[in-house]
Amino acid sequence: MKMRVATLLAGTIFTASLFSIASYAVATTTVEVYKSPTCGCCSKWVDHMRDHGFNVITKDVGNQEIRKKVGMSSSLGSCHTALVNGYVMEGHIPAPDIIRFLREKPDALGLAVPDMPHGSPGMEGSRVDPYNVLLVKERNDTRRQTEVYNRYDPYAKKSAQSAPADSAPAEGGSVMRLK
Ligand code: CU
Ligand code: CU
Repeated sequence: MKMRVATLLAGTIFTASLFSIASYAVATTTVEVYKSPTCGCCSKWVDHMRDHGFNVITKDVGNQEIRKKVGMSSSLGSCHTALVNGYVMEGHIPAPDIIRFLREKPDALGLAVPDMPHGSPGMEGSRVDPYNVLLVKERNDTRRQTEVYNRYDPYAKKSAQSAPADSAPAEGGSVMRLK
């Protein structure tokens, strides 16, 4: 992510000014994170969000109850659920995707990175796997009903990072499953 920010800043003045506007908005944005008190990768994701300027409040009460209440399908479930500006953010979503989403304000429930992909923010380690950030349009939409909002693929060339919007969400295998 540091590389991406650097690239952005090294771009045109127009892009740089857009970035500073986004940073300003983030600094005033509060994210409420529901997680287990003992979840290490959750805390690391919270740090990642704070590093990107978000004001984060944590609720150490687990996330299954809130996930159900806000209509995020358990088929999209991960270890933590976050609420921001009336949207739901499930799992280890990279902060830049959340920033873009909050700027675009789509008519949607929120974003989700199901399970816990290796290499996603908070899940850093020796292993890095591809994963998708999914756009969840309506309450209780299942994984099959989502669209790919962004794709991270360490094996793809940089220029091919963005997957077509109609490509299917990544299936199984390369993620750490929740119990
Ligand atoms: Cu996690
Ligand atoms: Cu978590």
